[in-house]
This record gives sequence, structure tokens and C-alpha cells, in this order.
Amino acid sequence: MILTDARKLAVRAVVNDWIGRSFPEHRSLLAHNQPIYSPDDNAWTVELVTNRNGSPSCPLGRVLVSGAATIISAPDVDGVLDLLETGHREPAQPTIDRVAGEEWELCLGDGIEATAKLADGSVDLLLTDPPYGISRRYACENQIPRRLRRDGSDFIMPRGHFGDWDASVDPQAWTAVVLPKVRGWAVTFCAQAQIGEYCDILTAHGFVAVGPMVWQKTNPVPFNHQHKPINAWEALVVGKRPGTAFNGRMVHNVFLVKSPSPQQRIHPTQKPLPLIGEFVDLFSGPGDLVLDPFAGSATTVVAARERGRHVVGYEMDPMIFKLAAERLSRCYDERLRI
Ligand SMILES: C[S@@+](CC[C@H](N)C(=O)[O-])C[C@H]1O[C@@H](n2cnc3c(N)ncnc32)[C@H](O)[C@@H]1O
Repeated sequence: MILTDARKLAVRAVVNDWIGRSFPEHRSLLAHNQPIYSPDDNAWTVELVTNRNGSPSCPLGRVLVSGAATIISAPDVDGVLDLLETGHREPAQPTIDRVAGEEWELCLGDGIEATAKLADGSVDLLLTDPPYGISRRYACENQIPRRLRRDGSDFIMPRGHFGDWDASVDPQAWTAVVLPKVRGWAVTFCAQAQIGEYCDILTAHGFVAVGPMVWQKTNPVPFNHQHKPINAWEALVVGKRPGTAFNGRMVHNVFLVKSPSPQQRIHPTQKPLPLIGEFVDLFSGPGDLVLDPFAGSATTVVAARERGRHVVGYEMDPMIFKLAAERLSRCYDERLRI
């Protein structure tokens, strides 16, 4: 979906209207960020933030708006008011660029540059999900997002900008830095059209290219369901250093798992925790070092930490890092699972 000025105005207007009706007395304390298209929801996400002169803006929740400019979901009004109250009482927090425990850490920054500083062969499991650049590259027919012409005759390739997190990372470039650091398994999500390229890359770096795996969604978004089969899977490519052990027996390479709902997600392409946990179980052992240079909402960090692995994640988008850091502290305090 293309973020034309008219569409942007329509999305912003509907969010402004909701803010005005829901927070008549606190309107001046609230603002919202630029709409970002969420391909999984076929909808726009708009981050609600505080609007206080001179204070850093704090996230207060997300409003999800349909292409027809109606609100699909919005943060709980009392919850937002509580956050506003708390924010009034608390002094401004210093900017945090790292959250960590004894065996895990999530850092704000470039995961490729940071990984370059690790020793070769120091990582047991690379488990990651780089942005595929769905708004620009690899937009073949079965990639998200896609639209049909009104008569269903042909696909229109999107040219929109879905947020800075979606800037594609060149597969050759990031793997050239990261793969030499890996001594065990390498597992990466990729666009369906990139499977062959990643298998070749693994082989070129001395891995056994085990091949693709499939995450099949039980709840795919039914884009264009009246014109074609619904796209209900995402691709991963797996490789291993020769001789690396496998913890599974009779495991199929198709994993049927529900996608997190918009209400559960803090990232537009957040992966399900049970799925990532299964990969940690299959491809690493207790005490191993797991690396995710493109951490997003920190699903890999949460899953690896729950299983007694050492884990390091990097996320370069400050807003996503903040939300992921909050997720990690919630998991620690309350064992919230999403
Ligand atoms: C597809 S998302 C990962 C989603 C994640 N698997 C989850 O469950 O939330 C990719 C993330 O990588 C981040 N990213 C892109 N380039 C990066 C880089 N060079 N270093 C660190 N993070 C990067 C993007 O901001 C985005 O949040």
C-alpha cells in the first residue's frame, strides 16, 4: 500500500479524531508518529506518544487503521491516562542503549558493525530475521504485500515506504561479516525469492546448506483470497558447520504456528515466541552463544534466555529498541509470554 499524501492525511485524521474523543482533557499532551504500513495486518500502525515541551516522547501504544481509514484497534484509554500520569511524576530517564542480564543482552546499534568485533567462530547459533526490503525488492507475486488490479487480472507491485525498519539489508554484505563468526548452526528468515541465494551464500562460506524451512501460519492474512491462494508461509534457510550436532529426531522442516495478533505485537513482523523457542531447542545447547544481529522486538533474546543460552541481540531502530527493552523487562518481572 502506498503512503500517498491523501492516504497519510486520512490515516492521521482518523487517529486525531480518536485522540480528541478519547482524551478531551489531555489532547495537548498527546501526539502520534508517521503511519507505518504493517503488511501482516494490511493496515497502518500509528504510534501514540507523549507531547511535552522539552521532554523526550514516550510510546503510549499503537493505533491500527485499515486502508479504508477506520480504526481496527487502539490502546486502552485508562492505560494511556495511567502512563501520562506516571510520566508526569517521573523525572526524565537517561537514554538507555543496552539492557542486559548475566547471560543476555540487547543493544541499540548496528548489528553488523557490532558482530564484526566478535571473534571468528565464537557464535554457536545465528538465529536471525533481517529486513527483506518488502517495500522495494523481492516483491515477486507471492511476497507481501501485494495488490491486484480491480478486475483481478494482474498484480500491482507496491512502491510504498513501510518504515525505516524495512530498509533491505544486502544478503551478500551482512553474511560476509556475520557468517565467519558462526561455528554451529546458521538459521535466517528470508523472502521466499531469496532461498536459493542464501543456500549459495552458506555453501560459499563453508557451511553445509541444509536447505529451506517453512513457517506455516495458522492465521494468515487473507489478501486477495478471492483471486489466488492465500500466502500462508514464510521462508527460512538453514546451514551448519560440518559435524555440528542436531538436537531433533524425526523433525519436519515445516512448522505450523500461529502468528502473534496485532494486539500482542510490538513489531510489524514480530515472529512467534514458540517458533523461535523451537529453533533454539533444535539448533543449540544450554550455555551456547546465540546471536541475533537484527533483533526487532527481541524474540530471539527472550526465547534463548528462557532456555539458558547466552544471547546477544542488536536493534538499530531506537523506538523498536525501546519497546523490545520494555518487553524484556516485562518477561523478567512477570513472565509475560507473547
Ligand atoms: C524483520 S525485523 C526482525 C523482527 C524480529 N524477528 C521479531 O520477532 O521482532 C528486522 C529488524 O532489524 C532491524 N535492523 C535492520 N538493519 C539493522 C542493523 N544493521 N543492525 C541492527 N538492526 C537492524 C530493523 O530495524 C528491524 O527491527
